[in-house]
Amino acid sequence: MRHEVLAAESLGPGEVRCVSVDGVRIAVARGRDGRVHALRDACAHQGASLGRGQVEALVEGTAVGQYRLVEGKEILRCPWHGYEYDLDTGRSLFDPEHTRVRVYEAFEEEGKIIVER
Ligand code: FES
Repeated sequence: MRHEVLAAESLGPGEVRCVSVDGVRIAVARGRDGRVHALRDACAHQGASLGRGQVEALVEGTAVGQYRLVEGKEILRCPWHGYEYDLDTGRSLFDPEHTRVRVYEAFEEEGKIIVER
Protein backbone atom coordinates (compact mmCIF):
# COMPACT_ATOMS: atom_id res chain seq x y z
CA MET A 1 0.00 0.00 0.00
CA ARG A 2 1.26 3.46 -0.93
CA HIS A 3 1.71 6.20 1.65
CA GLU A 4 2.62 9.84 1.03
CA VAL A 5 5.04 10.53 3.86
CA LEU A 6 6.80 13.83 3.07
CA ALA A 7 6.91 16.66 0.62
CA ALA A 8 9.87 15.91 -1.67
CA GLU A 9 11.35 19.38 -1.15
CA SER A 10 11.45 18.87 2.63
CA LEU A 11 14.19 16.23 2.39
CA GLY A 12 17.48 17.45 0.99
CA PRO A 13 20.48 15.38 -0.09
CA GLY A 14 22.09 13.65 2.87
CA GLU A 15 19.10 14.26 5.16
CA VAL A 16 17.00 11.75 7.05
CA ARG A 17 13.61 12.07 8.78
CA CYS A 18 11.41 9.87 10.95
CA VAL A 19 7.86 9.20 9.80
CA SER A 20 5.10 6.93 11.02
CA VAL A 21 3.13 4.72 8.63
CA ASP A 22 0.22 2.85 10.20
CA GLY A 23 1.99 3.07 13.56
CA VAL A 24 5.32 1.77 12.19
CA ARG A 25 8.30 4.11 12.47
CA ILE A 26 10.22 4.45 9.23
CA ALA A 27 13.43 6.40 8.56
CA VAL A 28 13.26 8.16 5.19
CA ALA A 29 16.63 9.24 3.82
CA ARG A 30 17.84 10.94 0.69
CA GLY A 31 21.24 10.01 -0.63
CA ARG A 32 23.57 12.61 -2.04
CA ASP A 33 22.67 11.25 -5.48
CA GLY A 34 19.07 12.35 -4.87
CA ARG A 35 17.52 8.90 -4.49
CA VAL A 36 15.18 8.32 -1.55
CA HIS A 37 15.30 5.28 0.75
CA ALA A 38 13.09 3.97 3.53
CA LEU A 39 14.27 1.73 6.36
CA ARG A 40 12.66 0.50 9.58
CA ASP A 41 13.40 3.18 12.13
CA ALA A 42 14.82 0.86 14.77
CA CYS A 43 18.46 -0.16 14.88
CA ALA A 44 19.02 -3.92 15.07
CA HIS A 45 21.45 -3.40 17.95
CA GLN A 46 19.47 -1.63 20.69
CA GLY A 47 16.62 -0.01 18.83
CA ALA A 48 17.85 3.55 18.36
CA SER A 49 15.99 5.71 15.88
CA LEU A 50 17.89 5.52 12.59
CA GLY A 51 15.93 8.61 11.57
CA ARG A 52 18.29 10.49 13.89
CA GLY A 53 21.31 8.96 12.23
CA GLN A 54 23.56 10.27 9.48
CA VAL A 55 23.80 9.52 5.78
CA GLU A 56 27.43 9.00 4.87
CA ALA A 57 29.47 7.85 1.92
CA LEU A 58 30.58 4.23 1.97
CA VAL A 59 34.34 3.88 2.25
CA GLU A 60 36.14 0.59 1.73
CA GLY A 61 39.69 -0.39 2.49
CA THR A 62 41.84 -1.97 5.16
CA ALA A 63 45.01 0.07 5.31
CA VAL A 64 46.35 3.58 5.06
CA GLY A 65 46.51 4.65 1.45
CA GLN A 66 43.93 2.05 0.39
CA TYR A 67 40.65 3.60 1.57
CA ARG A 68 38.36 4.50 -1.34
CA LEU A 69 34.85 5.87 -1.73
CA VAL A 70 32.47 3.34 -3.25
CA GLU A 71 30.66 5.15 -6.06
CA GLY A 72 26.89 5.16 -5.72
CA LYS A 73 26.84 3.56 -2.25
CA GLU A 74 25.89 5.30 0.96
CA ILE A 75 25.13 4.15 4.46
CA LEU A 76 22.91 5.26 7.30
CA ARG A 77 24.90 5.39 10.54
CA CYS A 78 23.09 4.71 13.81
CA PRO A 79 23.32 7.68 16.20
CA TRP A 80 23.99 5.58 19.31
CA HIS A 81 26.88 3.18 18.64
CA GLY A 82 27.59 3.70 14.96
CA TYR A 83 26.27 0.59 13.21
CA GLU A 84 26.29 1.26 9.48
CA TYR A 85 23.39 0.14 7.27
CA ASP A 86 23.46 -0.02 3.48
CA LEU A 87 20.76 2.41 2.33
CA ASP A 88 19.67 0.11 -0.50
CA THR A 89 19.48 -3.20 1.38
CA GLY A 90 19.26 -2.36 5.09
CA ARG A 91 22.09 -4.80 5.73
CA SER A 92 24.77 -3.88 8.23
CA LEU A 93 28.31 -3.63 6.95
CA PHE A 94 29.84 -5.83 9.66
CA ASP A 95 27.32 -8.71 9.57
CA PRO A 96 25.10 -8.31 6.51
CA GLU A 97 23.46 -11.74 6.75
CA HIS A 98 22.33 -11.50 10.37
CA THR A 99 22.20 -7.84 11.34
CA ARG A 100 19.92 -5.78 9.17
CA VAL A 101 16.79 -3.67 9.16
CA ARG A 102 13.83 -3.95 6.86
CA VAL A 103 13.74 -1.72 3.82
CA TYR A 104 10.67 -0.44 2.02
CA GLU A 105 10.24 0.75 -1.54
CA ALA A 106 10.44 4.54 -1.66
CA PHE A 107 10.28 6.99 -4.54
CA GLU A 108 9.18 10.47 -5.54
CA GLU A 109 6.00 11.23 -7.42
CA GLU A 110 4.43 14.61 -8.12
CA GLY A 111 6.40 16.38 -5.42
CA LYS A 112 5.75 13.78 -2.72
CA ILE A 113 7.86 11.03 -1.24
CA ILE A 114 5.95 7.77 -1.39
CA VAL A 115 6.70 4.73 0.78
CA GLU A 116 5.15 1.36 0.04
CA ARG A 117 4.36 -0.81 3.00
S1 FES B 1 21.50 1.10 18.97
FE1 FES B 1 22.27 1.34 16.95
S2 FES B 1 24.35 0.79 17.08
FE2 FES B 1 23.60 0.53 19.10
